[in-house]
Amino acid sequence: MDMREALTFHDVLLVPKRSSIASRRGVDTTGRFSRRIKLKVPIVSANMDTVTESRMAVALARAGGLGIIHRFLTLEEEAAQVAKVKRSENIVIESPYTIGPDETVGRARGLMREHGVGGLLVVDVKGRLLGLVTERDVQFRDKSEESLRRVMTTKLVTAPPDVGLEKAREILRDHKVEKLPLIDKDGRLKGLITARDIKNRRLYPDASVDSKGRLLVGAAVGVVSGYLERAAAVLEAGADCLVVDVAHGHADHVIKAVENLRRKFPKAEIVAGNVATYEGARDLAAAGADGVKVGVGPGSICSTRIISGAGVPQLTAVMDCARITKENDVPIIADGGLRDSGDLAKAFAGGASSVMLGSLLAGAEESPGWTVVRGGARWKIYRGMASLGATLTRKNKERREDEALDPIEVSEVVPEGVESMAPYKGPVAEVLFQLIGGVRSGMSYSGAATLPEFWKKAEFTRITSASWAESRPHHLDK
Ligand code: XMP
Repeated sequence: MDMREALTFHDVLLVPKRSSIASRRGVDTTGRFSRRIKLKVPIVSANMDTVTESRMAVALARAGGLGIIHRFLTLEEEAAQVAKVKRSENIVIESPYTIGPDETVGRARGLMREHGVGGLLVVDVKGRLLGLVTERDVQFRDKSEESLRRVMTTKLVTAPPDVGLEKAREILRDHKVEKLPLIDKDGRLKGLITARDIKNRRLYPDASVDSKGRLLVGAAVGVVSGYLERAAAVLEAGADCLVVDVAHGHADHVIKAVENLRRKFPKAEIVAGNVATYEGARDLAAAGADGVKVGVGPGSICSTRIISGAGVPQLTAVMDCARITKENDVPIIADGGLRDSGDLAKAFAGGASSVMLGSLLAGAEESPGWTVVRGGARWKIYRGMASLGATLTRKNKERREDEALDPIEVSEVVPEGVESMAPYKGPVAEVLFQLIGGVRSGMSYSGAATLPEFWKKAEFTRITSASWAESRPHHLDK
């Protein structure tokens, strides 16, 4: 049997090289999640139920990264999460939320709450614009059955559908309004431009957006029953990328599923994983993956390596898999085990085109779930998707839909993950700023102005545990 040595982030350091980079701001960190998804800040949040739902995905895409909605939701719930991100920012909202004039104040309130918007356009059965109803119109209205005809604003400033962005800005400014409905010659509603969207474009210059100015978002799918329907639903909701997410991605049934998805959705961006070897990356790319996720067992909440004895230390896994980027232009994503910005720098230096983070983002304000206080500090729950708690929740949710099956018992699960907590860290944009700042710094130590240059110029040196001790803050209390 062959046995190779393999290393991970803390086994190495980047050797400082002569550099012509005078300022870290001159470093371009643009990377890719998949063949066609470019990210100015190539940091992606893990598709885990304690890390990514729409709020995290919106915040990350605004900051230049990307969020992947987890799949431990019903198909409808996952598609709704995707739709929320796609609707959160636009140049033009093509199908704004509408309501009929004979509906009630109560119904309007309910719809606004459900969709998370502050206003609805009122249209007749032919789609002609009659008015606008906003939160301000319905607040303090005691009778929820009151007709919208009595409360809606009917004097509206409108523009034709082909109004340019600059012109729209002028109209909003001159009329001091927040919403500009777009209508055709017959008065039919064709879209909506909002002041908030225009402001956001200036506020978030690095944002990851599609050709219509909508924020990018990915959605996870599995490989067993119903995955094709789920993929169709999330794509229909606007997902920019499917992420086939399986613990052991180098398996015949996963390769088959990727081939099926590729055939059924020829234009979709598909990222598949997880693998830890070049052969794994090669086989998924050959099946049609536009990006390959790398990492078997490095995650902070993973116990796969302890339970199964399987895995490859993450830096070696990344470096081996990155061959597929050179050979086939398929980016790889280093997923799991990244604890500090220096680890991100090493993953990029080793050939990753983007990184996926769980624990580093789980403590952010925008992650799903509660903040808990313990020992005077704030924490957020963070758990492995193969942990006992997550597995029981998911399997029992599936079983509830099938009344013939009894709830699953604890003794029927072999967990490969743990349940834990992440320290509360505030807004994710601040977390990202620190992480990408560290990556810029690492790139400048290697004299690299871009990621492809980093791949070429970076040199690792192996270190001992004594060197690692020297690398961290030390000896401060003597
Ligand atoms: P970090 O280190 O960023 O890792 O917290 C996040 C990644 O870990 C993977 N993941 C798991 N791996 N058991 C595992 O072996 C689990 O229960 C589990 N849950 C998540 C996943 O790849 C994630 O992106």
